[in-house]
Amino acid sequence: ATAYLNGEFLPLGQAKVSVLDRGFLFGDGVYEVIPVYGGHFFRLALHLQRLAQSLEAVRLENPFSENQWQNMLQELVERNESVDQTVYLQVTRGAAIRNHAFPDRVEPTVFAMSSPLEPLSAELRIKGVSAVTREDIRWKCCHIKSIALLANVLLRQEAIDAGAQEAILLHEEQLTEGAASNVFIVREGVLVTPPKGSFLLSGITRDLILELAKENGIPCQERAILAQELTQADEIWLTSSTREIIPVTRIDGIRIGNGAPGLLWQRMDKLYQAYKMKVR
Ligand code: PDD
Repeated sequence: ATAYLNGEFLPLGQAKVSVLDRGFLFGDGVYEVIPVYGGHFFRLALHLQRLAQSLEAVRLENPFSENQWQNMLQELVERNESVDQTVYLQVTRGAAIRNHAFPDRVEPTVFAMSSPLEPLSAELRIKGVSAVTREDIRWKCCHIKSIALLANVLLRQEAIDAGAQEAILLHEEQLTEGAASNVFIVREGVLVTPPKGSFLLSGITRDLILELAKENGIPCQERAILAQELTQADEIWLTSSTREIIPVTRIDGIRIGNGAPGLLWQRMDKLYQAYKMKVR
């Protein structure tokens, strides 16, 4: 695979950064994950907008204009073979003598790589996935797409260790999001997801699903969701750029709905796939 690092394209295995990089020492940086379908970026402008917001929130100057980002990322995609790709990019506060305070002169590290994007397996589409609930032990700025993901990593691993695929997080008995996904529930035909704010990442996929729901007359609400509503839900979905919309059919070992991916999931998945084909 070909990667991009600080102005050059090179084989991923040859891309090296300093051990003094603040991304390595402090997790001092932000990132994005963007899907590519048929060689075309999906919702790129929105990802670049969110990147700009993350950079601003951590007081890092955006190293590129929107056009420069587009050109670099497009070249990266062209240098990699797969038609469907997942592009990962990150910007850190660069290498400097270790000191919590910002360095006087920041030379950011800009890195991007691409990997093949695998479609959801047939098994997953038929059976759905299991999730567990966990207390949301993260910080109070979850709207920033920070590379410091230790809590998310520990929570995801707890889910895996419990034989599940995702940890669904609760803050004061209210749903926030998954360890690496946003969460929707369906109750009595209404699609519900928690409102945006500092407790969750403003997912690009989340926003598209709300858009598609509105365009297609599917009732939806952005409101607080109580822990107890999860087990009462007819459907639960996880959403992210890499996994699209995944139906959850078990939570903490309890069956959701009739234990199979729900009807509204099937409908939304069709709308999503059709939308993808349109922009591709
Ligand atoms: N994660 N919430 C969290 C904590 C996430 O890490 C992600 C995505 C999402 C969904 O956002 P979007 O729809 O914009 O991908 C929500 C990416 C895929 C990752 O870390 O790999």
